[in-house]
Amino acid sequence: MTSAAHIHPGVCVKVPAKVNLELRVGPPRADGFHPLATVYQGVSLYDTIEVFPAREWSVEIAGRTAAGVPADENNLALRAAQALHDVTGAGRPVRIRLTKEIPVAGGMAGGSADAAGALLACHRLWGLDMSAAELAHLAAGLGSDIPFLLSGGTAIGSGRGERIAPTSARGIYHWVFALSETGLSTPAVYAECDRLRGSTPVPAPEPSADLLAALSFGNAEAVAAAMGNDLQAAAISLQPALAEVLEAGMSFGALAGIVSGSGPTVAFLARDAEAAIDLAVSLTASGSAADVRKASGPVTVGPVELAAAR
Ligand code: C5P
Repeated sequence: MTSAAHIHPGVCVKVPAKVNLELRVGPPRADGFHPLATVYQGVSLYDTIEVFPAREWSVEIAGRTAAGVPADENNLALRAAQALHDVTGAGRPVRIRLTKEIPVAGGMAGGSADAAGALLACHRLWGLDMSAAELAHLAAGLGSDIPFLLSGGTAIGSGRGERIAPTSARGIYHWVFALSETGLSTPAVYAECDRLRGSTPVPAPEPSADLLAALSFGNAEAVAAAMGNDLQAAAISLQPALAEVLEAGMSFGALAGIVSGSGPTVAFLARDAEAAIDLAVSLTASGSAADVRKASGPVTVGPVELAAAR
């Protein structure tokens, strides 16, 4: 039991999923991305990212939502680790182990969480000293949601979602997520949003003052009243059954229901922890969703710590 692998087993971090309390989408930019005004909240569904020194790059995937995640060079965690390696010229190959709990292609940034986790874990494993701003810059190049997922909590996103600003947020929010059998492609949902809008003029996106005020007071009912997602109509257009899921959750007492990000996960905000349990039980019993998860937010990224040897 004294091999090198046991002396330095590796590094581990837990990264949460996100929900967009608000997602305002402007008309497409010249580069094809859409300008956003969004309010992100990290919620307590986590992927665990472990990295171990290895002779070759590899990724293995376990966990409740492992199905459908590529274990090859398309894997976002692997791409993030290799990007950090390329940029810094530091480090050696790693074996990445992902334990997934975040829905895949669900609008909750599961792939982005894995990429953020790989960046944080490899940064520690390789003893790098990049600043938070440098890591965020690298993260932004890999995906619009990834800078937020380097820390989590509650934050305002602008640009294409990659520019993060803090916002004052109080309270704990109790969520119930209705998962869909099949995922939605993010580019397809943005394209459908553009198609549905046609030539209607679209204002520059702004976060709502009502939502920011509701968050600063920690008032769940006011937050519920101010939530909104410009991609919701597009997600429903591509997956019409989502309208029934939304209706079901509201009929079971949710304060508000919203498609999460580009969907198809539907996020319901409950009045309190007990109401969330009732809502999750009713939604599960109704069979209107493929799976149901309860979570709370805001939560942040866990500590970057030594992983158990495997
Ligand atoms: O940045 P990310 O890789 O998450 O984006 C995935 C896709 O979603 C982009 O290629 C683009 O089609 C779309 N997108 C967009 N506007 C944004 C963010 C994403 O059009 N602000």
